[in-house]
Amino acid sequence: MRHLVTLHDLESSEILEIFALVQELKDKRNSGERPQLLQGRTMTQVFEKPSLRTRLSFESAMWELGGGASFFTCKEAGLDGRESIEDVARVIGRFSDVVTMRTFSHELIETFSQNSEASVINALSDLSHPCQALTDLYTMQEIAGDLSQQKLVYVGDGNNVAYSLANCCAKLGVPFVVSSPEGFELSSEFVNDLKQKIPAAQIELVADPQRAVAGATVIYTDVWASMGQEAETEKRKKIFAAYQINSSLMSAAEKNCRLMHCLPAKRGLEITDDVLDSKQSIVFEQAENRKHLAKGLLVWLMQQA
Ligand code: CP
Ligand code: NVA
Repeated sequence: MRHLVTLHDLESSEILEIFALVQELKDKRNSGERPQLLQGRTMTQVFEKPSLRTRLSFESAMWELGGGASFFTCKEAGLDGRESIEDVARVIGRFSDVVTMRTFSHELIETFSQNSEASVINALSDLSHPCQALTDLYTMQEIAGDLSQQKLVYVGDGNNVAYSLANCCAKLGVPFVVSSPEGFELSSEFVNDLKQKIPAAQIELVADPQRAVAGATVIYTDVWASMGQEAETEKRKKIFAAYQINSSLMSAAEKNCRLMHCLPAKRGLEITDDVLDSKQSIVFEQAENRKHLAKGLLVWLMQQA
């Protein structure tokens, strides 16, 4: 039985196995086939924050694969102090084959997974968003092509999405550049730890966004204020102003460079409408792939059980 709490839980070869399953299941769905590979399996989702893509990707994936899904808020599940995390994990784990969790605290998912006999998938914590990063690298491979020819440049907040992208790029040998304002970079502790775990990791922090995007095959951004940081929105608008993805920044990159965003986007803040809706943008293909990735990941995890 395997968990996916961070991308350190997967070997590079296992990520490629998951991508192959994703491709196979996507192709089958596109030709009208919905193999019932998870018939009789139960997934429980426990979320503390809102979600459109993640919740629906897992729920619809489970239904299409023949399994069933239940949804709880953390409060409804008793994680607000009604019971200990360990006891909730022991109970949900006995009722389920797989559990997806979206929380503020990363430690909560870690503690839960240590006490769950069902596989636990991190569906976003303040530190990590592994399913998003897996989807993103799969999407790059599918649309932009051979990963060995890619360079991903992330412009914006050094947040959960950026951490997971850095990790996934390192595992798959993709150079990763991060451009963030001072004080909002990926932590040096994280970068050093990643380089120690994956010595071949190519990760570079470049403060100037115009310089950072040179040579990018994909430019990526995310909101400046993540869930839970809404009170900082106004302050961050000023700090991040020079990090907006707009036509001027896009013109500093290659002409055929692709644009990605995990969504939801704050149009007019981290990204302008013209760029988000341009031909270079693959954000909705990326969003759709969340579902295909969820399918491949669920099937792969159940194969390990
Ligand atoms: N990208 C993503 O995780 O979207 P949701 O917050 O809507 O799940
Ligand atoms: N960094 C964002 C990602 C949302 C999918 C957040 O945590 O709110």
